[in-house]
Formats: sequence, structure tokens, C-alpha cells
Amino acid sequence: MILVTGMSGYIGSHTALALLNAGREIIGFDNFYNSTAEAVEAVKKLSGKDFPFYTADLRDPDSMEKIFKENNIDAVIHFAGLKAVGESVAKPLLYYENNISGTVNLLKLMEKYGVKRLVFSSSATVYGEPKTVPIKEDFPNSTTNPYGSTKLYIEGILKDVCVSDKDFSVALLRYFNPIGAHESGLIGENPNGIPNNLMPRICQTAKGIMKELTVFGDDYPTPDGTGVRDYIHVCDLADGHLAALNKIEKESGVHIYNLGTGKGYSVYDLIRTFASVNNVDVPYKVCPRRAGDVPVVYADPTKAKEELGWEAKRELEDMCKSSWDFVKDK
Ligand code: NAD
Ligand code: WQD
Repeated sequence: MILVTGMSGYIGSHTALALLNAGREIIGFDNFYNSTAEAVEAVKKLSGKDFPFYTADLRDPDSMEKIFKENNIDAVIHFAGLKAVGESVAKPLLYYENNISGTVNLLKLMEKYGVKRLVFSSSATVYGEPKTVPIKEDFPNSTTNPYGSTKLYIEGILKDVCVSDKDFSVALLRYFNPIGAHESGLIGENPNGIPNNLMPRICQTAKGIMKELTVFGDDYPTPDGTGVRDYIHVCDLADGHLAALNKIEKESGVHIYNLGTGKGYSVYDLIRTFASVNNVDVPYKVCPRRAGDVPVVYADPTKAKEELGWEAKRELEDMCKSSWDFVKDK
């Protein structure tokens, strides 16, 4: 069975569904810090399958040990973590405790129960400000905020675990910018509180919750002056986890992959595409650059294609449409 941590979250719920649809058995857990049980019910409904789900916390080993005791776990896909960059600057210790200590707690239980396979949610943030694009997996790493540091430290911890135990296998998946939602409209990105990322903010603006979107800078050295990112559909991302799981079931050691499309789109591309496919207005105003933002980030996803047989298939139109379908009536 596959243990999915942070299962009721945005990427966890889509991956859980993909795993169930591929005939895998799963167990989920979450502490509902940034999600609700609705996503768990939706995954059960969409897959037509039941699975054990626990309310547990990475920081509370006893709550997690119950899961390891009661189930026969073969591998872990580890999504649980805090992810808001700004909050991590304001509350670094919360991030180090939750993400790093929490992961160490999980790894200690995996060691105790002989579980030696882990897929980890890393991030393109570990590339810092890349000197060139597209970004390859062997580019140098650096971070600009505590959130990014937690990802880099955890990558290091997992590499050390693999050195200490030659049977251990890990996939470090460096996601670019996940957006979009499942076509059913039943699961998607539903952050608690005010969102930080572009797509949820576009959605809130289209709904009228935000009066206008703030475009953080139109003076970047990019074709239209706004920041360029590699937006990837969350369902493509979910499929990437299945491919990575298949890989680490066959091969031990550390396997690092960029999960992106390899294409860069600007803030204006997103606003324009979103407004046109959904036939809604997205009023915006141009503001100064946001501190810490990088002009252009996009992946070279060749390694994942060659070694995992995985590549992103869905287009930007589909990402914009499904994001809106999920939130428009909420
Ligand atoms: P999310 O917030 O929707 O999901 C994370 C889940 O983990 C939430 O349901 C939250 O309640 C849970 N969680 C947090 N701390 C926990 C704890 N101590 N114990 C148990 N559960 C806990 O975020 P997401 O977008 O689905 O991200 C999943 C993973 O992918 C995270 O590790 C994130 O850092 C990483 N990631 C996300 C993005 C992105 O842009 N969404 C990009 C790169 C990497
Ligand atoms: C995208 C573009 C902004 C909001 C962050 C994290 C990264 C990863 C993904 C987890 C940029 C512009 C944004 C707005 C705007 N998360 N923007 N107005 O910054 O690429 O990455 O999320 O690992 O670690 O740093 O994503 O969606 O915040 O921004 O103009 O209101 O949209 O300047 O060019 P980012 P984002």
C-alpha cells in the first residue's frame, strides 16, 4: 500500500485519485491545516473506491505510528508541508519544525517499519535565480527564503539516508508551477485564507473577491515585460508521481526530476488566456516587482521523459478552464 501524506491537499488529492485509478491501494493522512475532508470524500467518489484515511500530524509521531502499525506500507508519497513563501519569512521556525522535523519523524517511522521508498515533493525554488533557462536537474541549488531552504535541507537529508542504506530509494520531484484542477470540478486548489500564487489570485479577481489583480512588474527582460513561469496542469503532475513511483520500485538510490512542461508563459499570457477561455473579466493594475521574484523560470523536462517515460500533455487553455470550473461556484 502507498501512504500519501498531505493527501487532502491540492496535489495530494489529484495524485491519490491517479493512484487509485491506476489500481494502486492507498492510505491517506493530513492534519487539515490547509485542506478539508471534502477532498477525501471527492477522491473516494471519483475513484469509486474506499481507502483508510487518518487525521495525523507530521509533528506528532504517535499519530503517525498508528498508521504504520495498522497498515502494510510499501512506499510513501510525501506531500505534507507548509508552502507559503511570505509566511515562511515571517515564521521560519514554524516552517523548519513542520517541514524538516516533520519529515525526520516520518523517516524514523519508515526506518522502524522497514519502508524504504519515498517520493518527495520538492520545488523549482531550489534552483534560486537560475543563470540560464531551461533549467536542468544538475543546475546549482540555492534558496532565497525559509520555505525554499526546507526543501533543500530535506533533499539533503534524503540523500544522506540513501548513502546510509543502499536499499533505500527516493525520487526528488521538483515541481514548477502547478495550476488547474480535475475535469470533474470536484477537487482543485482551495487554499485557506488569502492566496499568494498567481492562478488562485486570478480566480479571486474573476469572482470579484479581489477588486483587481496586481501584476508584479512589467519591466522584466521578457517579451511582454511580465514574469515568465512554467505552469503545469496538476493532473499531469499527478501522473508524474506514478511514473516516479514505478522507477523507485525498481531502482534504489536518489532520482531527481524536474516536473514541468518546458514552456514559459507570462503573467499577461495567463490573464489573457483565462479571460478568453472562461469568458470573464480579470481587471488588473501594474505594481512594482515583488521582492524575491525571478524574471524567467522554466524547466528542461527531458530527463523525466527519457527515464520515466513521462511528459506533460495538457495545454494552458485546459489549465485555465479547469481552475475556473473548480472555483466559480464556490
Ligand atoms: P497543500 O497545502 O494544498 O497540501 C499540503 C497538505 O499538507 C495540506 O493538506 C496540509 O493540511 C497538509 N499538512 C501541512 N502540514 C502538515 C502536518 N504537519 N501534518 C500533516 N499534514 C500537514 O499544498 P500542495 O500545493 O498540494 O503542495 C504539496 C507539496 O508540494 C508541498 O510539500 C509543497 O511544498 C510542494 N510544492 C507545491 C507547489 C505548489 O505551487 N503548489 C510547488 C512546489 C512544491
Ligand atoms: C508567478 C508569477 C509573479 C501573483 C511560488 C513559489 C515556489 C512554488 C510555486 C512551492 C510571478 C506573478 C503573482 C500576483 C503577479 N511553490 N504574480 N501577481 O513565485 O513562481 O513560485 O509558487 O514550491 O516556491 O515561490 O509563483 O504564482 O506566486 O507567481 O504578477 O498577484 O506571477 O510575479 O511572475 P512563483 P506565483
